[in-house]
Amino acid sequence: MPVVIVTGASSGIGRTTAERLARNGTTVVLAARRADKLQALAAHLPNAVPIPTDVRDPAAIDALVAQALALTGRVDGLVNNAGIGGVASILVAGAFPALADRVYANRAAGKTDVKGQL
Ligand SMILES: NC(=O)c1ccc[n+]([C@@H]2O[C@H](COP(=O)([O-])OP(=O)(O)OC[C@H]3O[C@@H](n4cnc5c(N)ncnc54)[C@H](OP(=O)(O)O)[C@@H]3O)[C@@H](O)[C@H]2O)c1
Repeated sequence: MPVVIVTGASSGIGRTTAERLARNGTTVVLAARRADKLQALAAHLPNAVPIPTDVRDPAAIDALVAQALALTGRVDGLVNNAGIGGVASILVAGAFPALADRVYANRAAGKTDVKGQL
């Protein structure tokens, strides 16, 4: 059975991706910061392993991969989805600068890539 790590699996696109993969026979390693959300999702999927991870932390990423290998024996793929989601209309006064501030703040900290880099 293939094994795929999905980062940002606790909500939104990552959660839906994890659900689709698991229901199609993939073992899914669920990674995000909110352990309670990962546990709840894993409880209703056929083959899912929750591993709480903050992808801003390179050591946590190493630990994620090591734990995934130890628990499943292989890693075949990565859905590197963790990041900032949500929808903001540019028609709402002030919405875009506020969103841009969040995105650029994350870029400055190198927060969105699974390797802790952009
Ligand atoms: N929705 C859109 O229209 C859209 C458009 C273009 C691109 N995207 C991109 O698609 C991705 C998912 O978007 P979404 O709408 O599904 O967002 P979402 O519902 O807000 O989900 C974001 C996910 O990323 C996780 N995450 C955030 N920071 C993290 C960190 N430091 N370490 C580990 N996990 C982290 C969150 O989990 P925790 O909070 O539990 O850590 C959550 O599971 C994002 O990268 C976003 O930028 C989305």
